[in-house]
Amino acid sequence: MKKQLLTILMGCLVLGASAQKAVVSLDASQAKTEIDPNIYGMFSEHLGRGIYGGIWVPKDAKVKKEGRIRMDVVEALRKIQIPNLRWPGGCFADEYHWMDGIGDPAQRPKMINTNWGGVTEDNSFGTNEFMQLCHLLHTQPYISGNMGSGTVQEMSNWVEYLNFDGESPMTKLRKQDGVDKPYGVQFFGIGNESWGCGGNMTPEYYVDQFRRYATFARSYQNAPLKRIASGANSDDYHWTEVLMKGIPLGMMWGISLHYYTIPTGSWGKKGSATDFTEAEYFNTMKNCLHMEDLVTKHSAIMDKYDPQKKVALVVDEWGVWTDAEPGTNPSFLYQQNSMRDALIAATTLNIFNNHADRVKMANLAQTVNVLQSLILTKGDEMILTPTYYVFEMYKKHQGGKLVPLHLISPAYTVDGKSIDAINGSASIDKAGVMHISLVNLDAEKARTVTVDLTNTKYGKVSGELLDAKTVTAINTFEQPGNVKTTGFADYKLSGSPENQILTVNLPAHSVVMLDAQ
Ligand code: AHR
Repeated sequence: MKKQLLTILMGCLVLGASAQKAVVSLDASQAKTEIDPNIYGMFSEHLGRGIYGGIWVPKDAKVKKEGRIRMDVVEALRKIQIPNLRWPGGCFADEYHWMDGIGDPAQRPKMINTNWGGVTEDNSFGTNEFMQLCHLLHTQPYISGNMGSGTVQEMSNWVEYLNFDGESPMTKLRKQDGVDKPYGVQFFGIGNESWGCGGNMTPEYYVDQFRRYATFARSYQNAPLKRIASGANSDDYHWTEVLMKGIPLGMMWGISLHYYTIPTGSWGKKGSATDFTEAEYFNTMKNCLHMEDLVTKHSAIMDKYDPQKKVALVVDEWGVWTDAEPGTNPSFLYQQNSMRDALIAATTLNIFNNHADRVKMANLAQTVNVLQSLILTKGDEMILTPTYYVFEMYKKHQGGKLVPLHLISPAYTVDGKSIDAINGSASIDKAGVMHISLVNLDAEKARTVTVDLTNTKYGKVSGELLDAKTVTAINTFEQPGNVKTTGFADYKLSGSPENQILTVNLPAHSVVMLDAQ
């Protein structure tokens, strides 16, 4: 690999390549680790218009529906093949009592959604409605159990209701709800943000609680439960250390990590979703790139206790969190989505792909109408966001073998501070096609990337591009097609079959997916 890089670098020097050029070296012979499709998971909480309005609509809504589930949203999500959907929260999960959301909808008790605006939750969207949604989406459910305010018995009963196939009090209830066969739910979270909204626990206390709750959240026949521990907030490495030390490896399938990209870096004034300067854009991208550091450092702690990498790092909340759209309820976390969001998504997914040996699952927050959404709805209308198109482009990486990528990037400098202008990841799919995703974070300058494809003998390359006039470009209900993917052909394959070089010209602030075969 070193030899390959050296050859390219020398080639660049000979060609008089400037510091503006990036050099990527790919070693297809080392493509061994699978990129778990679950890295491309989503998160949908009972929050604002995420479920109610975004997915679950009134009986008399004119939009195409299955029951009360809106099918325009389902059909759009199906196209990007979301592998799993996390529900019902978030903070909501730790005050959600699942039994209030089953049985006759007219009889279901109401509750206050204290975390998100104090609105009344009518429990019309409960377990069976969520499972129907997953069925329509062809996706795996990932359920977050209530450890903060629920009992061990309550969590145990939920798993029994979901997954047991014999005669029991819970399966009797499920059958009364019209569901004969168990659902076989695999992914199950034991609490959410237990260091915060999930109960303000210390990590030591959480470890004991996890061991207790996880014991009674049973695996049933044909339904082994993948229990996911509530992991760290951002760079709380102590939390990860205590959990890894205190929880027997066999008890947990994964441990989570939550990190949000906040433009200003402050939970007070977070910054606008649409109105920002280049300096603010630069800071946002710098904050986004912090994910690399977090994943590396949390993984290193996990390696100490689990060198065989049996426990997954599950980044089950990530994305950009800005100020809410002016004129909307701030507690509903409704924000617009710009080309900047697309660059955040593409960069973050590159990071996850490149850490596929440890990151086995991730969930973008939050699918529809909340935070960094894929889809925005207004009544019966819906639009796709720039972030949606990234997931559409990147779905080719799902299940592929990660190709280790060595990248030397030129700097993108604003106000004397620098970040790497270019990032990327690559995989080989079952048909032998190599997919290379490249991101140019430079808001102003196009960049050339030289990709060394030595010993790969690809004869054909095709490409797809996501870019826009500016990083602030958005799709609106009036102009839904401002930011979308187009064909891309600004690349050249050169050299001999044994020594191929792919030269790619990336427009400013763009995402490119190249397929080589
Ligand atoms: O995604 C919004 C909230 O962010 C979630 O409910 C919570 O887990 C996190 O703090």
